[in-house]
Amino acid sequence: MTILVTGGAGFIGSNFVLDWLAQSDEPIVNLDVLSYAGNLENLAALDGDARHVFVKGDICDRALVDRLLVEHRPRAIVHFAAESHVDRSIHGPGAFVRTNVEGTFVLLEAARAHWSTLDGDAKARWRFHHVSTDEVYGSLKAEDPPFAETNAYEPNSPYSASKAASDHLVRAWHHTYGLPVVTTNCSNNYGPWHFPEKLIPLMIVNALAGKPLPVYGDGRQIRDWLYVTDHCSAIRAVLERGRVGETYNIGGWNEKANIEIVQTVCALLDRLRPSTDGPYSRLVTHVTDRPGHDRRYAIDARKIERELGWRPAETFETGIAKTVQWYLDHPDWVARVQSGAYREWIGQQYGR
Ligand code: NAD
Ligand code: TYD
Repeated sequence: MTILVTGGAGFIGSNFVLDWLAQSDEPIVNLDVLSYAGNLENLAALDGDARHVFVKGDICDRALVDRLLVEHRPRAIVHFAAESHVDRSIHGPGAFVRTNVEGTFVLLEAARAHWSTLDGDAKARWRFHHVSTDEVYGSLKAEDPPFAETNAYEPNSPYSASKAASDHLVRAWHHTYGLPVVTTNCSNNYGPWHFPEKLIPLMIVNALAGKPLPVYGDGRQIRDWLYVTDHCSAIRAVLERGRVGETYNIGGWNEKANIEIVQTVCALLDRLRPSTDGPYSRLVTHVTDRPGHDRRYAIDARKIERELGWRPAETFETGIAKTVQWYLDHPDWVARVQSGAYREWIGQQYGR
């Protein structure tokens, strides 16, 4: 048996591949175009490991996806590949529509063609696992209950709109064609291999470089943070035991304001790598807010707990301490991802 993973060289995908192969001998075919966010260095531990077959390619390439399905006959597709950064989606939404909407459509069509050739147990057990985000539900007010699977979709950014569109396609391919799908909508992840354009790794690498820590607006926006390996274990649970056609919300029960996250990172660095220039919080700089910035996300993760017995293993305190330590231990990885393209993005986004 084999699974096909898309986007397995990105942040969550590479954690998933490493985690999967640490617990199972079931091989992974990893299809990733290696965009700016894809990094094979994350998977260096698997060099020479026959259980990991890496294929550099685009999920929009139907002929390639068809070929991989015929050659490897995976029992499931776990679909991570996406453009994933909200700020980039504001500057250039086209790539988000292409990869997140069109790419998911291509995968669904290829999956449907492949699945229709199967029969018996292989057909019944086959899965398309769509990895999505809590951002499709829009923004919560302070007094609102957290997002349940029954919440209406109200995406506000080009990123969340493109993910919402892909969720709708996945739903329709199940409803109309019977394709055996499961969808997971997860809250903000953090942990190792996180590209330093996102809040937590950006704050760590900027602080260590003595650069400003750019907090959008008042910094009181709230996210529900989940350590990435907990997301991986939730995906495994849903893939194995989730009910076909269902969606499961995944979250860490960790609602935190951005400014609180930044202060926590600063405090950990003060302890682990003190700066002679004083506390890292001196670098906190409030900058112009993100247009259309969602105020609060929070996940009601009771369904996955009730049905599948999944709960996060890490608290925010243990997860953030591991994460900061990981960045301190991997300065070479950080230096290498801060390529020319990365520097261009930082100039475009924060240059103002
Ligand atoms: P990421 O940006 O770090 O990685 C995305 C990966 O997809 C990269 O390796 C990239 O090269 C690849 N990719 C992009 N376009 C592709 C294409 N056309 N064909 C093949 N590969 C392509 O993203 P991430 O943070 O790891 O997120 C993975 C998935 O999880 C996404 O679908 C995202 O929407 C979802 N998600 C992310 C979070 C989060 O906090 N990061 C939370 C919930 C859900
Ligand atoms: P991000 O990591 O981009 O995830 P998302 O927008 O998908 O939730 O941002 C997390 C929060 O941190 C979000 O409210 C925006 C905020 N933020 C900053 O305040 N400064 C920054 O430089 C970045 C990248 C994000």
